[in-house]
Formats: sequence, C-alpha cells, structure tokens
Amino acid sequence: MRLNKFLAEAGVASRRKADELIEQGRVDVNGKTVTKLGTEIDPEKDEVRVDGEKIKPAKKVYYMLNKPKGVVATTSDERGRTTVVELIKTNQKIFPVGRLDFNTTGLLLLTNDGEFSNRLTHPRNKFERVYLAKINYPLKEKDINRFLKGIFVDGRKSRFTKVEFLHESNRTKVIVGTVEGRNHFVKKMFETLGYKVLELHRESFGNFTLDGLKIGEYRELTKEEIDKIMSGKKGKGKSKKK
Ligand code: URA
Repeated sequence: MRLNKFLAEAGVASRRKADELIEQGRVDVNGKTVTKLGTEIDPEKDEVRVDGEKIKPAKKVYYMLNKPKGVVATTSDERGRTTVVELIKTNQKIFPVGRLDFNTTGLLLLTNDGEFSNRLTHPRNKFERVYLAKINYPLKEKDINRFLKGIFVDGRKSRFTKVEFLHESNRTKVIVGTVEGRNHFVKKMFETLGYKVLELHRESFGNFTLDGLKIGEYRELTKEEIDKIMSGKKGKGKSKKK
C-alpha cells in the first residue's frame, strides 16, 4: 500500500497532506526517514511514525445496511444529499461495495477494506445479486426466456440468472438474479424490453441476506462472514451461478 494512502486511512491527514508530511521528512518507516513520494509499505509489517509517533493501521470494519430510499450510495454528494456512509456510526473511512441507485432499497455492504470490496465486485467472481423489481406491466412469458438467454444492453450480451414471480398471480413483482455489477443494470434490462422499474429492492448479494434487518438498520458482519469472502470461498447457495 502507498504510504500516503496508509496515512490517510489511519486518519493522520488527507493523501495530499500526507504527501506534504512525507516531503517535509516527518515520516519514518522502520526507523528510516522516507521523503520519496509513492513509497510502498506493508501495513501489517512495517512500522510507520509521524513526528516520532507510531501510527496504527486503520481498523478494518464491515457493515451490512438495509438501504432506505432517497440516500445516495457514495461517500459524498455534491448536491448535499444524505449518503449511506452517514447512516453508519464509525470513525473509519468506509465506502459502499458497489452501487445502489438513489431510490433503490435493500442490501448494501460497506467497508474500508478495498480487497474485500474487490473480491465481491470483481466480475470474475460472479457473486449473484438478487433483486425484487416492481414493474409497470405484467412480465410476458416470452420475455422471461429472453432475459434468461440474454439480450443486448449497452452493446453487451446481458442476462438474468433467474426470473421468478413473488406471487404467481401478480406478474408485476419480479425476482431477478444477476452477476452483473454495472450501474442501473436491472433497470436497463427491463427498459430494453419495454418495461419500467417502479421500485427496486436488493434482497441478497452472494451469501449475504438481510435476514430481518429493517430499512435503515445496519449490523456489523461476523468474522466468519468476512473470512468466507477473504478465503475465496463463496459457499453454497445464492452466490452459485444457476
Ligand atoms: N440495478 C439498477 O438498475 N439499480 C440498482 O440500484 C441496482 C441494480
């Protein structure tokens, strides 16, 4: 990890200010003053001091939020709207794992661990996201197959991994699965076949489910949940490609 990033994550200063500290010769790594910008360190092994004071690496934190409507899934918003990060009480600089639209509700993970986030969002790992979409017209039978076989969205063949109805008698409430993390993916899929998504709620991401967490509530992930992702095991069930 870059030294300036380490210092920023540990809450010492912004990355730019951290670079200034480095250039001023105020930062030591393993007892040696470092003035070269872009220096890489190992946060687990290397001892970093600023003005002689030992800097503790940022504690890694992991949360699951049931995102409410009307909150942006980013770390800041130039229009001053509430962000998901503001809903969680922590001193760490957390960010959302992937995106949910302003009016989408449901499961959102947040962390300050880039590696954890990369593992979950990397297309190669194919973690399934399951959404409940309320659409403006009952879904036609033939469109179920088109979604499952694949349609072109933004010039790329795109598919849902599953298409089911919440109640067989009401075909406007559709449960869809996807391994895609592209922005607005579910809405674009429906729009391509002439439907409009009126409401969207994410029910699961990989093996993570909301399990009774109400809108606006959040909880910390368990060590076991974190280890499962970091050890590369996706586990059985929801994250498997159907
Ligand atoms: N797809 C969308 O269209 N919106 C979301 O918020 C998530 C997936």
